[in-house]
Formats: sequence, C-alpha cells, structure tokens
Amino acid sequence: GLKIATIGGGSSYTPELVEGFIKRYDELPVKDLYLVDIEEGKEKLEIVGNLAKRMVEKAGVGINIHLTLDRREAIKDADFVTTQFRVGLLDARIRDEKIPLKYDVIGQETTGPGGFAKAQRTIPVILDICKDIEELSPNAWLINFTNPSGIITETVLKHTNVKTIGLCNVPIGMVYGVAEMLDVDVERVSIDFAGLNHLVWGTHIYLDGEDITERLIDSFAGGKSMSMKNVPDLPWEPEFIKSLGMFPCPYHRYYYLTDKMLEEEKKEAATVGTRGEQVKKLEKELFELYKDPILNIKPPQLEKRGGAHYSDAACSLINSIYNNKKDMHVVNVKNNGTIADLPDDVVIETNAIVDRNGAHPINIGHVSTKIRGLMQSVKAYEELTIEAGVRGDYYTALQALTIHPLVPSSTVAKKILDDIINQNKEYLPQY
Ligand code: NAD
Ligand code: G6P
Ligand code: MN
Ligand code: MN
Repeated sequence: GLKIATIGGGSSYTPELVEGFIKRYDELPVKDLYLVDIEEGKEKLEIVGNLAKRMVEKAGVGINIHLTLDRREAIKDADFVTTQFRVGLLDARIRDEKIPLKYDVIGQETTGPGGFAKAQRTIPVILDICKDIEELSPNAWLINFTNPSGIITETVLKHTNVKTIGLCNVPIGMVYGVAEMLDVDVERVSIDFAGLNHLVWGTHIYLDGEDITERLIDSFAGGKSMSMKNVPDLPWEPEFIKSLGMFPCPYHRYYYLTDKMLEEEKKEAATVGTRGEQVKKLEKELFELYKDPILNIKPPQLEKRGGAHYSDAACSLINSIYNNKKDMHVVNVKNNGTIADLPDDVVIETNAIVDRNGAHPINIGHVSTKIRGLMQSVKAYEELTIEAGVRGDYYTALQALTIHPLVPSSTVAKKILDDIINQNKEYLPQY
C-alpha cells in the first residue's frame, strides 16, 4: 500500500484530495494518508481530518487517515508528498493583497508583488521540507500545489535533489470552461498549453481531436468568458482576443486589462474586502459545515473556492506516476528546451506525458512574438524572485520587483519591497 504525506493537511481543500483518492482506490491503493499541519492549524486539521475519516469510512475503502504535527513522521518512507500549505496563513495573504494596492499596483496572492511576498515566505519552508525528504524518503515524489506554484517548483528543482512536479488547477479549469462553452463532455476537449503558471496560454483547442481553435476564438471573442472563482470575471475585448488568436488564462486579465482590474480590486477592497478577506469568511462557513458529524462527503460549497478540480489534477497525476500510465497532464516542469525562448533550467507550465519516471513535456519550440516578451519578462522576475528568496538578498529582490511588468518604477518597487519586508519579518529568516 502507498503512503502519502500532505503538508498543510488542515486546508479546506483536503476533502477534494480525499475524494480523489477514494474515487481511484481500485487502481491507486493508498494505505496511509498523513495530514500534517502546524500548531496554528491544529483546530482546522482536527475538523477536516475527522471529515476525511468519515469520508473513507462511508466509502468503505481501506485508507488510514493520520493527523499529525510531526512532519518528519509523515515524510518518513512516504511514496508521495503533496504540499498545500500557506505560510503566515490568510492574514499574510491579506497583507500581500493590500500592500501593492496602496501604491496603485495590482494586489493579488500570486500575480505581481503579492506573489513575490508569498514566495519569499514559502521558499525557506519548502527548502526545509525538501531536506526532510532527502533524508527520510529520497525516492518520494513531491507534488507541489503551494503557490506561487511555478516559482516554488523551480526553487525545488534548482536547489534540492527532490523529484518534483508542480500543479495548478487553471489548465484543467480552462478545459472544463471550453467544454461548457461547447456544451460537450469534458473528455472530448483537449488544449495545448504553453507558458508559465498563472501565465499560461491555450494555443490550440481540440474537440474529439479536431482543431477548432479558430471557430472557438470567434465565439470566445464574441463575449463569452471564462474565469475562476477568485479572479474578477471582467469581459475580454473581442478585438483583443481575435488579435491574440489564442486563449488567455483567467490571470492574464491582470496583464491585459490592468487598469480595469485595478479599479475592480480597489472597489472590492473598499466594499466586500480583498479576496483573502472574502476567503476568510468562506472558510469559516466551510469549517462549520465540516464539523457536522453527519457530513461524510465533500460538500458542494467548496466550489466557491478558486481551487475547484484540485483533486482531479493531483490524484490523477499521482495515479499516472504510480501506474506508469503514459497519459497527458498539464504540469509545471523543467523547461529543458521545450520552449526555445526560455532558459533550460526554468520551470514552465505545459502538456506532458507522465509515466513512472515523471513528466516528459511535449516540444513547443518558439512561441508567438505576441506572447514571447511578456512570458520572458515574467520568467526573469521569477528567476530573480527565487534567487532573492534563497539568499535573502535585498538588491536581487529590488530588481525582481522592478522588472515585474505590473510594477511601474523602481521607486514604487522599493516602497513595496520595504513594506513587504517590514510586515513579514517573522517569516523571512533569510533576510
Ligand atoms: P490555508 O490557509 O487553508 O492553509 C493550509 C494549511 O497550511 C493550514 O491549515 C495551515 O495551518 C497550514 N500551514 C501553514 N504553514 C505551514 C507549515 N509551515 N507547515 C505545514 N502546514 C502549514 O490555505 P489553502 O487556501 O488551503 O491553500 C493552501 C496552499 O495551496 C496555498 O499556498 C494556496 O495558494 C495553494 N493553492 C494552490 C492551488 C493551485 O492551483 N496550485 C490551488 C489551491 C490552493
Ligand atoms: C485558483 C488558482 C490557485 C489559487 C486559487 C485561489 O484555483 O489556480 O492557484 O490558490 O485559485 O482560490 P481562493 O479561493 O483561495 O481565492
Ligand atoms: Mn493555480
Ligand atoms: Mn514596468
């Protein structure tokens, strides 16, 4: 039987993961699932862990759920380690969202300075976790969901010996979105993806293997829109979509519709609160539901969170590695020449064939000039963000923020950086 360790087990998303393992139990016999959290997350871990226990009992599968604050016990001899932790909890996210807004810059948990701050807090922790894996389960696969997912995955690949694949639910969310637009079963749709995490473009769309990109661009441009629960659903401009000739991801709105998105964020912050503030309320409601001893399935209310389809992505990836399936997934992996316009050692988000040796990306070559520059700029920002996060170097951090396309100047970058460092002192041992 398999041993899985999930770091950040108190997450409200855990029932999705458990549902994913239950659904696949015949092929993927998970024997032990260790849900790991920290002192501050103890109460959440208890509540969600007890729901997980009721779920496996109801399903009648032999998965043993273990709740623990002892990370090393969980990691020891694990086959897979999955990560879904949030350093600094939601209060840190809310600060990340608010600091940039003070300076009229997009305030978002993964995109722009908010994502930079989250990366600086998360890098020391992920490196620690990897030390445990290197020592206690050197053959384990690390399946990373922790945001900023692409940056964290690249950190692990560049600075540790741990085998890792990064995941995000945006690509699968786009596949579901297209299936909905076409009103067809989701299995009939596939998309070629190229780019970076939360900056991924759908370059071709297929229905039953037939390329329908052009037809779909027209209806997409005609006002149809897709988004995630956590990204304001502002409509795309039809001329823009036609001129792009491919499908932006929901997060591209922050780059292509910056002015409107900033206005929207400020409006939300002043009324319903930032997304982090909204999630705080949603989470309270969810955990109240989770406490109900009668509840023994994943409640549908979880769909109000941005991470829908999370389990499909994580559990089916683990299944493909374990069963050597050689099927296609959209993952965050080392570029290694896949996109000719980026360095070899960086992480990209793309289609890959997954087998027991990991993810093998499908070659892309050069990308369109329309998207090349933005992709390269954001990647350079990410590379510097990792270097700053590992070394705790103020000057590298300042360069990272200054070159980010959503930051207007070095003056603003410095103000934001100083605020980030001041407000995150306890989480930035490297600085
Ligand atoms: P959350 O706030 O519920 O945090 C999850 C748990 O992590 C909490 O119970 C918390 O106590 C715990 N935690 C904090 N620091 C920890 C540490 N050092 N070690 C172990 N546990 C720790 O967060 P969430 O909303 O469930 O999201 C979790 C993470 O997953 C975030 O980083 C989020 O951005 C990410 N996420 C990513 C995707 C994706 O598409 N890649 C989708 C959903 C969520
Ligand atoms: C999307 C993204 C995730 C992100 C989540 C936020 O699913 O792909 O990377 O963590 O949204 O959702 P939330 O409900 O926390 O705002
Ligand atoms: Mn994501
Ligand atoms: Mn600029």
